[in-house]
Amino acid sequence: MRRKLAAGNWKMNGSIPALDMIRKLNLAHPECPVDVVLCPPAPLLGHALQNTAGSPVMIGAQDCHAEEKGAHTGDTAAPLIAEIGATHVIVGHSERRAAYGETDAQVAAKAAAAQAAGLIAIVCIGESLDEREDGRALDVIETQLAGSIPSGSAPETLVVAYEPIWAIGTGKTPTMDEIADVHARMRAKLSDRFGAAGESMRLLYGGSVKPDNADNIFALDNVDGALVGGASLSAEDFSPIITALSES
Ligand code: 13P
Repeated sequence: MRRKLAAGNWKMNGSIPALDMIRKLNLAHPECPVDVVLCPPAPLLGHALQNTAGSPVMIGAQDCHAEEKGAHTGDTAAPLIAEIGATHVIVGHSERRAAYGETDAQVAAKAAAAQAAGLIAIVCIGESLDEREDGRALDVIETQLAGSIPSGSAPETLVVAYEPIWAIGTGKTPTMDEIADVHARMRAKLSDRFGAAGESMRLLYGGSVKPDNADNIFALDNVDGALVGGASLSAEDFSPIITALSES
């Protein structure tokens, strides 16, 4: 059984007062049957953690460096993310791949650093609109999956998020069949590579997940949860998504 996961990526949004949503999520989901992770911007991680005592909500970062420490101004070391009590880190988000030219190999190195620090790496992959329209989505996903996931990965240290770039922040999503096809392919490739462990690795869908489409997405085979952007910024939107996942 794979434990389901609702992860929220705040991107470069949020504030200290906005962290009050953790208290609201606590009240709404006192006995939460799924994992819930919020990934606020780095300056908010400490504040966020102060709000999670007795809460089912875990806290994650949005990126880390591949090295443990050193002369990397502005970057964040995975061991430090772990030291303050965060449990997850997103790596390889398409916004970072696009803005900073992060390659699959760099993403794999970051994921390995996160895992070595005791964090769960949420590795993002996803095709562009051109790649989807050219019929290359599955090939692109396979290549990114092979290149972005470190060989030492285990179900306890790895989550993969399929986020089609053209679905992020657009209100568009692939069809349910398209999501199911990608997730089936990811599952098959992880099983080929990691054997039984590949069956237990969690696969998230991300890209315009909202309260009104969550039920359909979570009903799909091999969708073990979601990586949510805009709808994770308020308890009003994120809570129904957690409920949909809990009931799926
Ligand atoms: P939206 O849910 O806002 O489309 O963002 C998805 C995403 O990029 C999460 O990492």
